[in-house]
Amino acid sequence: MAPALLEQPAQAQTPAGVLGPGAVPVTLTINGKPMKVSVEPRETLLDVLRNKLDLTGAKRVCDRGTCGACSVLVNGKVMYACTILAIDAQGKQITTVEGFALSGGRPHPVVQAFVNHDAQQCGYCTPGFVVAAKAFLDSNPNPTYEQVKDGLGGNLCRCGTYIGIRQAVLEAAKTMKGGSNA
Ligand code: FES
Ligand code: FES
Repeated sequence: MAPALLEQPAQAQTPAGVLGPGAVPVTLTINGKPMKVSVEPRETLLDVLRNKLDLTGAKRVCDRGTCGACSVLVNGKVMYACTILAIDAQGKQITTVEGFALSGGRPHPVVQAFVNHDAQQCGYCTPGFVVAAKAFLDSNPNPTYEQVKDGLGGNLCRCGTYIGIRQAVLEAAKTMKGGSNA
């Protein structure tokens, strides 16, 4: 007996106004510059930064919004880039660690303080901490140790360098109040 013909699945239709599933052109504003890139709607901002725009400061560690290694600033607020779709980041001001780590050839005070305090081991968490620390100090210029601890609570360091990180942030607070490269 001849085998029964399998029913052919209906051709998938993309409703009007819905983008994808293929790549679509978008423009993202990153570190003050418009950048054109082709992204699939499923791609996260983190993957697009790292894999398509060569901005590898934000790290992919948990990839599920729990560690902070991928921290970037979106309209000035710290956000986990692994939890944002790149397509949704259009029209927003995105700042990565590359956008402020060096200014006029000099390290940002937060970066310099991390170096001074040797506040890293493997370094995977470091760019995310630097981004979070900058944002924290921008709104808390005169923090206590406990406030630094709470303020950076969204970032994890698997190597346990928290003490050095907090001391670095306190030092950066002093430096930035002095107006050096802030
Ligand atoms: S990689 Fe995004 S929060 Fe961990
Ligand atoms: S220095 Fe290794 S995870 Fe923080």
